[in-house]
Amino acid sequence: MGTKSLALRFLAEPTDVNFGGKVHGGMVMKWIDQGGFACAVNWCGGYAVTIYVGGIRFFKPIHIGNLVEIRSRLIHTGKTSMHISVDVFSKKPEENEYVHNTHCIIIFVAVDKNNHPVPVPAYSAETEEEVNLQKYAIRLMELRKSIEDEMQTFY
Ligand SMILES: CC(C)(COP(=O)(O)OP(=O)(O)OC[C@H]1O[C@@H](n2cnc3c(N)ncnc32)[C@H](O)[C@@H]1OP(=O)(O)O)[C@@H](O)C(=O)NCCC(=O)NCCS
Repeated sequence: MGTKSLALRFLAEPTDVNFGGKVHGGMVMKWIDQGGFACAVNWCGGYAVTIYVGGIRFFKPIHIGNLVEIRSRLIHTGKTSMHISVDVFSKKPEENEYVHNTHCIIIFVAVDKNNHPVPVPAYSAETEEEVNLQKYAIRLMELRKSIEDEMQTFY
């Protein structure tokens, strides 16, 4: 069984820029996917694909040249799915105080080489914080159901 949490750290590069001079939102989404992926595959010990990315909230812009930290944390598992909470923080490399830029929940499904879902090791919440995060993941699943029912009319 792998670890529950994992962090990626790197500098935001000039090639990550948007038209306004800050980091491009699409780039942040890519980092979220990569951070979540690394956490998911470490947990399941195999390959996994993104099945859902929910409610990405960009609180504050990320500046080019800043040190970015993508903190991913497993908060719930189903039979084949892994729910990962991803928070993006950044700071000037010469300073110590991180800014919280983004939060979202991303769900991965472990798959075999034929892209069929396979069972993952069960997550068990131990601390009070972990219990609360797991409840949060379950509440979101319930909310998502009604959002998806609503959206289904249009896809
Ligand atoms: C991932 C994939 C193999 C799953 O197959 P599926 O037949 O759609 O899904 P299943 O009904 O077998 O469900 C598999 C898991 O996904 C979960 N799931 C299904 N739909 C979901 C949704 N809309 N949101 C969140 N989780 C969902 C199920 O609850 C199940 O988890 P569990 O076993 O823990 O209960 C398939 O959807 C797929 O290949 N999707 C594309 C993945 C991809 O290309 N990702 C990159 C996109 S850029």
